[in-house]
Amino acid sequence: SELSAIRHLVSISDLSTPELRSLVSRAAYHKKLIKSGKASTSLPLQGKTIALLFTKRSTRTRISTEGAAAYFGAHAMFLGKDDIQLGVNECLYDTTKVISSMTSCIFARVNKHSDIQELCRYSSVPIVNALCDTYHPLQAICDMLTIKETFGNTKGLKLAWIGDANNVINDLAIAALRMGISVSVATPQDVNISEHVQKVAEEVSEETHAHIELTHDPKIAAANADIIVTDTFVSMGEEAQTKRKLAKFQDFQITSSLGSIAAPGWKFMHCLPRHKFEVTDDVFYGKHSIVFPEAENRLYAAIAVIEALVVNKGKFIE
Ligand code: CP
Ligand code: NVA
Repeated sequence: SELSAIRHLVSISDLSTPELRSLVSRAAYHKKLIKSGKASTSLPLQGKTIALLFTKRSTRTRISTEGAAAYFGAHAMFLGKDDIQLGVNECLYDTTKVISSMTSCIFARVNKHSDIQELCRYSSVPIVNALCDTYHPLQAICDMLTIKETFGNTKGLKLAWIGDANNVINDLAIAALRMGISVSVATPQDVNISEHVQKVAEEVSEETHAHIELTHDPKIAAANADIIVTDTFVSMGEEAQTKRKLAKFQDFQITSSLGSIAAPGWKFMHCLPRHKFEVTDDVFYGKHSIVFPEAENRLYAAIAVIEALVVNKGKFIE
């Protein structure tokens, strides 16, 4: 059907390796253009709207998406949970049908992965997952751009994830493996990457020959790592479990001493927002940290995604 031909972006696993590479290089291309003061000359989405259907807070995802929409001449329409009828007077099906009938794309930040799937099922325009409980593809694309810029290349690097096993690492691991980066994931004892994500990771690993290692020891992950990454230990929606989660992650804070076993010149990354539980100030604000250039790169990732899915209607430039 026509609806099933639409390209959505729910997770990095929706993308082939060449498609991911295309997004990363288009993001770099647009960044260069913008930095050199050359705004895009054509506004291919002038007169169009892009909906931002957000049921959770956001700084980076909202700002980058609104900026990316403006870059192509589109108007971004922020629809927060207190703005529209969804969840109070109207169901997701009706909301999806209506929003997609009047816009050119929907960036959606919802709780459940199944909500994103429902949006994809009924939307007549591309759906971009702007973070759900299981995936965060925009962050992973941004992180690949940041790593490529920092190291010049991605192949053969080692990325250590020390933290929770949910949205950010799920897409980051798949993206890194696709780009030839080996990944070592350290999580607390009874916190594990889902079997589905492990299976996808193993498939990608066979394709690109980058390895994935799962451990419960932060030191195993950090040893000789080129990049150490973490995220909050208490994700949005988990506030009631704060005490329990912080106790579980008490040995998982990124410190300079942990960094001392990483590769010389290692870099620290974090999707933000950041709390002190997961990383000390001296690492977060120190010479190894690239968190602010990383945050800025969210803009170029959003530009690349809108270009591929909306401007080019699902064609990825080689
Ligand atoms: N990294 C990220 O997605 O940040 P926001 O929650 O502020 O959008
Ligand atoms: N894991 C975090 C990411 C925020 C960008 C959360 O879900 O809240």
